[in-house]
Amino acid sequence: MDRKVAFITGITGQDGSYLAEFLLKKGYKVYGMVRRASVDKYERIAHIMDKIELIQGDLLDQYSLISALKKAQPTEVYNLAAQSFVPTSWAQPVLTSEFTAIGVTRMLESIRLVDPKIRFYQASSSEMYGKVLQTPQTEETPFYPRSPYGVAKVYGHYITVNYRESYDLFAVSGILFNHESPRRGLEFVTRKVTDGVARIKLGLQKELRLGNLDARRDWGFAGDYVEAMWLMLQQETPDDYVIATGETRTVKELVQVAFDRVGLDWEKHVVLDPAFLRPAEVDLLIGDPAKAKRQLGWTPKVSFEEMIRMMVDSDLERLSQ
Ligand code: NAP
Ligand code: GDD
Repeated sequence: MDRKVAFITGITGQDGSYLAEFLLKKGYKVYGMVRRASVDKYERIAHIMDKIELIQGDLLDQYSLISALKKAQPTEVYNLAAQSFVPTSWAQPVLTSEFTAIGVTRMLESIRLVDPKIRFYQASSSEMYGKVLQTPQTEETPFYPRSPYGVAKVYGHYITVNYRESYDLFAVSGILFNHESPRRGLEFVTRKVTDGVARIKLGLQKELRLGNLDARRDWGFAGDYVEAMWLMLQQETPDDYVIATGETRTVKELVQVAFDRVGLDWEKHVVLDPAFLRPAEVDLLIGDPAKAKRQLGWTPKVSFEEMIRMMVDSDLERLSQ
């Protein structure tokens, strides 16, 4: 069989770095799309830079996508690039739509033009469920997004389904619930907490300012979730899947696990700051991964507690150097 070739947008992000590692282990030739910047942002992929090939391109620029696909000639495209931080989507709603919504159409159109046999993965999100209409959330649960980011992801989801139905593309949408790791961006709540806990433990900071402690999320480990992306593209027929742990926890529980790891009392350090409240909140997310388990044979391996401890330990080590 010919060698499989993957093209990953968002390879410099959390998921892109884990997916690239995973696909290299499977023997893939891996190309990553990167946008031009005045300084390099290759921290998450520094350890595999000699094994992957980077091509410049931007989801805002259709021609760059077409030429990148022509160069890489991939068998699989993983579209992970997006403006992915929910609060920024209120500050930059138009740009968020351009990247996170219309960017998906640009990528699908490029695939149609260059090679319609390419298998396509779209990084959809549990944020699409927003003000949830059913609990737990499944592939059948209607969407009710609560942020410009969530609205943009709903568009990305449906344009993927539409191109599958209109043009018979092998296009799938993975509805992934929150997934975290030591490589998570510092502004997301898990990493903000584990980094803050490590700083407080090391005497570098005294308090940790947070918003809504009552929000509930279904948090899994990013390393487990990239396997599900790959599995979706190995099936006989394209379909959409919820990827989740099936458990939910509050931000307060997350804070407790992280402070417990270093033997500190969270109530002495956490300060509630209205600046981190959102114009509209997603109160509760909990996914039902039964379909992924049944059809893909996928189950998460790392527990919530293990993951948060792993993140605290990693931040302690990094900040101690
Ligand atoms: P992330 O760490 O924020 O990475 C986002 C990536 O997108 C970065 O590589 C970024 O590149 C790239 N990017 C942004 N705008 C771009 C553009 N216009 N053109 C090209 N590249 C662009 O996100 P993540 O956590 O890995 O998530 C990956 C994907 O899954 C995203 O689409 C996200 O919305 C979705 N998702 C994430 C979760 C989660 O819990 N992590 C859950 C559901 C869905 P730079 O390095 O240049 O900024
Ligand atoms: N970021 C942040 N900072 N969130 C806070 C804070 C804070 O100081 N305090 C409380 N929270 C709450 C938020 O209000 C939200 O309810 C929850 O913590 C999780 O916030 P984030 O970690 O920023 O993630 P998110 O759920 O908004 O979005 C992430 O998950 C989505 C999947 O459901 C992102 O990765 C999205 O890209 C992804 O699609």
